[in-house]
Amino acid sequence: MNLARPLILGIETSCDDTGCSVVDGTGRVLSSVVSSQLSVHRPFGGVVPEIASREHLSNWPAVSREALEAAHIAMWDIDAVAVTRGPGLVGCLLVGMSIGRAIAHGLGRRFHGVHHLEGHIYSPFLSARGEPAERAPERFHALVVSGGHTSLLEVERADVFSMVETRDDAFGEVFDKVGKRLGLPYPQGPKVDELAERGTASKVMFRVPAVKQRQALYFSYSGLKSQALREIQTLEHRGVLTGEAISYDRPDEIPQPVLDLLASFRYSAVRQLLDRLRRHQDRRSIRTLAVSGGAAANRLLRRELIRWAEEARVNLRLVPLVYSGDNAAMIAFAALMRGLYGKSDDPSHLQVASRIPFV
Ligand code: KG4
Ligand code: ZN
Repeated sequence: MNLARPLILGIETSCDDTGCSVVDGTGRVLSSVVSSQLSVHRPFGGVVPEIASREHLSNWPAVSREALEAAHIAMWDIDAVAVTRGPGLVGCLLVGMSIGRAIAHGLGRRFHGVHHLEGHIYSPFLSARGEPAERAPERFHALVVSGGHTSLLEVERADVFSMVETRDDAFGEVFDKVGKRLGLPYPQGPKVDELAERGTASKVMFRVPAVKQRQALYFSYSGLKSQALREIQTLEHRGVLTGEAISYDRPDEIPQPVLDLLASFRYSAVRQLLDRLRRHQDRRSIRTLAVSGGAAANRLLRRELIRWAEEARVNLRLVPLVYSGDNAAMIAFAALMRGLYGKSDDPSHLQVASRIPFV
């Protein structure tokens, strides 16, 4: 295979996944390796930042070796290095940044610091079959749904503008918290989604927060979370739940009212996303919507988005499931897209931060 230059080494260490990837100049993913730290953090019920930083450091040699071997290249074949510089856990970001800068400096290659969300934003255009990436339109909308973000953004020639953000909790985060209350193991989001598939959603159980006509649009998920937690308590009082963790290993034993509750919760969470998309569509036109982030794996969300896009005649690009969670291919590809529109890196890109603006 002819490799199109530049070959970009991507590094992603913003949270609990250690990612290394090689992407070529057409956006073809030559390799993408993600080492998950799930088992290390599971006993704590969530990510422990200091443990995550240390794990990145010890995982890196094996992860990078595997990525280079799978791409059939050596480190000196790389033309540029792209690293997530934030937002994320600062200790974790520093590990990736230090490794990336050392490689770029040692080999005399270009270095790019990439905003984590920019990585997600372009990920729906990546091919899961090892083909060149699809060309993203000059202007498109992006919906990023993850454990840390629920954002509707507008992208124009690689400039990113935030349109609708969550005022409180993120979409994936509330799935995690509701699942945790039921005693499900971390990350709870995919498990809540799976159990919700077996329940029947009641349309009246949870409200979607209303947005007034002229008000700026926003997402809000903390009310839904509190309502769901109260409903779980009610099931405990009624003796449907014992207060013990529900057994995910024996899903057939989970009482039907619990499955129905999760289905209603999920329905409401997804309905809010669709409601805001419709309202935004009424105010400004969405032609292409690129949907990404770990929670873009949500089954109901994918089904509802496909239905809406058909009705609204929107060109929907759903991230391939292999690139929905955090990975380094999306970071390398975002660096490529920034380069395409002449967005140069400034010295601040050499810094990491838990919160950073788009530049
Ligand atoms: O993008 P990601 O890997 O990490 C962040 O940047 O947050 O997203 C992980 C989040 C977690 O909150 C996880 O529970 C959630 O995405 N998630 C889901 C599903 N799969 C992952 N939430 C709801 N339904 C799913 N199927
Ligand atoms: Zn992410």
